[in-house]
Amino acid sequence: MTMSRVQKRAMESLLVVLSLGVLVQLAGCSPPPDPVMCTHGTSNCTITNTYGSFTDRTICRAAKVTYPRTEQELVAAVAAVASTKQKVRVATKHSHSIPKLACPGGDDGTIISTAQLNRTVRVDAAKRLMTVESGMLLRDLVEAAAAAGLSLPHSPYWHGLTIGGLLSTGAHGSSLWGKGGAAHEYVVGLRIVTPAPASQGFAVVRELGADHPDLDAAKVSLGVLGVISHVTLAMQPLFKRSVTLVKRDDSDFQEQVARWGHLHEYGDITWLPHEGKVIYRQDDRVDVSTPGNGLYDLPLFRISPTRDLIDARTAEERLQENGTDTARCEAAQQQAAASERLNIFTNDGVSFTGYPVVGYQHHIQASGTCLNSPEDGLLTSCAWDPRIQGSFFDNSGFSIPLSKAPAFVADMQLLRNLNPDLFCSSVDVRIGVLLRYVKASSAYLGKPEDSIGVDIIFYRSHTEGMPRAHADMVDEIEQMALHKYGGIPHWGKSRNFAFDGAITKYPKVHEFLRVKDRYDPEGLFSNEWTNKVLGISGSPNIIKKRCAIEGLCVCSNNSHCAPEQGYFCRPGKVYKEARVCSFFKNY
Ligand SMILES: *[C@@H]1O[C@H](CO)[C@@H](O)[C@H](O)[C@H]1NC(C)=O
Ligand SMILES: *[C@@H]1O[C@H](CO)[C@@H](O)[C@H](O)[C@H]1NC(C)=O
Ligand SMILES: *[C@@H]1O[C@H](CO)[C@@H](O)[C@H](O)[C@H]1NC(C)=O
Ligand SMILES: *[C@@H]1O[C@H](CO)[C@@H](O)[C@H](O)[C@H]1NC(C)=O
Repeated sequence: MTMSRVQKRAMESLLVVLSLGVLVQLAGCSPPPDPVMCTHGTSNCTITNTYGSFTDRTICRAAKVTYPRTEQELVAAVAAVASTKQKVRVATKHSHSIPKLACPGGDDGTIISTAQLNRTVRVDAAKRLMTVESGMLLRDLVEAAAAAGLSLPHSPYWHGLTIGGLLSTGAHGSSLWGKGGAAHEYVVGLRIVTPAPASQGFAVVRELGADHPDLDAAKVSLGVLGVISHVTLAMQPLFKRSVTLVKRDDSDFQEQVARWGHLHEYGDITWLPHEGKVIYRQDDRVDVSTPGNGLYDLPLFRISPTRDLIDARTAEERLQENGTDTARCEAAQQQAAASERLNIFTNDGVSFTGYPVVGYQHHIQASGTCLNSPEDGLLTSCAWDPRIQGSFFDNSGFSIPLSKAPAFVADMQLLRNLNPDLFCSSVDVRIGVLLRYVKASSAYLGKPEDSIGVDIIFYRSHTEGMPRAHADMVDEIEQMALHKYGGIPHWGKSRNFAFDGAITKYPKVHEFLRVKDRYDPEGLFSNEWTNKVLGISGSPNIIKKRCAIEGLCVCSNNSHCAPEQGYFCRPGKVYKEARVCSFFKNY
């Protein structure tokens, strides 16, 4: 058996600890912590997300949390809040959303956690239907499906999300074929618990079948309609996929972005702007009898020794704050080379012997081995675990209409060509810029047209208002996508400014709001953030000193940047209408 370098080092540190006879104090388990913490049992609680930080760096408060274990307990929990008109929001086991979706309105609301609503309810292999409770992790769902000979055709790439959470934020994989890459396209039934009048006991279960008109509201709902208890998915017979990653220079990236998703059912694209390269994922469905037992294991989602994570973060902070562009590009080259040596796939679950990698859908569609981190007192963890000083990043996620993707790519390349070195530090070079295909949806808050979803991961400082190196590159790309190319932010990703005015790009938002008014007329399941992003009240922007550095606003004057450190509010370099915080050496 071969072990990765990281696993070896984890094993070695563990052996050192054990052989020294040190009593390992199990201070906590290493899988990610519950985002809800309370000082008195289930009362006096705080809630955050899996990264330990919302976009505005605050932590939310709630009077209490409940963990229903059955639909009946869930109905009782909703009735309890509805009868006393308390604010309430649903949290999931890990609560991944970066914006403040998980916070109950105000400071004294109730959190209903779906952490214990994680069972399979029913599998009908003949009809290819699977019904699960909404708190079930994607990891467990696809395993249970495979055991019954079924595959979920599309999902996000990280399997630590719950089905209720990933549906509610419109999460997706990549496909233009069939109904496309968004998971909510495969929902054919939901049971959702909503507030109700006293005459109905303050809470009811609404059952929405495939033809129910409200399903288009409930499939992607930001959690403002109530709590989903059960989800029924249209599955497919177990199948395999054959994947080959092809790395080429980015000279024809513009033409390829328009055609790649049509050529391959699961095609996606990773752009490495600083290298001038593109990785095309050539990924297609193959018959289940095709030999191969491949496994997807994205390095970012692997278990890592905490010591390594802390050392890497320290080096990253030093480069960000005090490094030169040359030093940052040297580091980026080393990082890129090191991550190229890490296998994203193995052919048999152990080692990589070459492409194509053929494997079962449930072993290829998503990954996240750090969730299975042993309870080792934080010797190992997921990279972003807020209990250690490991990686801390932002993830901007947005989509633009597919028809505009070639022009958008051309503009990004123009910006990069001005000085490729600036992309060594502004984009996480191990991950690059990920492009995935999503089809137009009937869901009111789904994609209004065929789109390309873009993900950019970048460094975030622990210090509020601290500029990061060449942030203006990513800020310009984002503003260009949103305002020049009609883009919309991913509901569960991105920083505040991306949501400003975004709701006007959803032609069916009024249909959505009508369902919301029927299901939850008092807005108990709405919070300040959902009211802002749905255009009900307030603006997602927060205007204050250095707000543009934090992504809380688009700068309109220098105080929104960091003039004391040489960052001033300036037009974009390619998209002149953009306003970004640019650094001037001799200010
Ligand atoms: C409630 O929790 C906060 C910390 O989140 C703590 O400071 C406060 O003392 C707690 N209140 C009570 C009554 O325990
Ligand atoms: C449900 O969650 C509990 C507690 O986290 C866990 O022990 C159990 O294995 C999970 N069940 C399923 C079916 O995933
Ligand atoms: C950057 O340099 C300053 C001044 O020498 C120092 O105070 C600071 O700690 C350094 N930052 C990092 C992250 O090393
Ligand atoms: C810049 O913005 C700040 C904060 O919004 C505001 O207080 C200040 O008056 C503005 N300055 C100018 C010159 O517009």
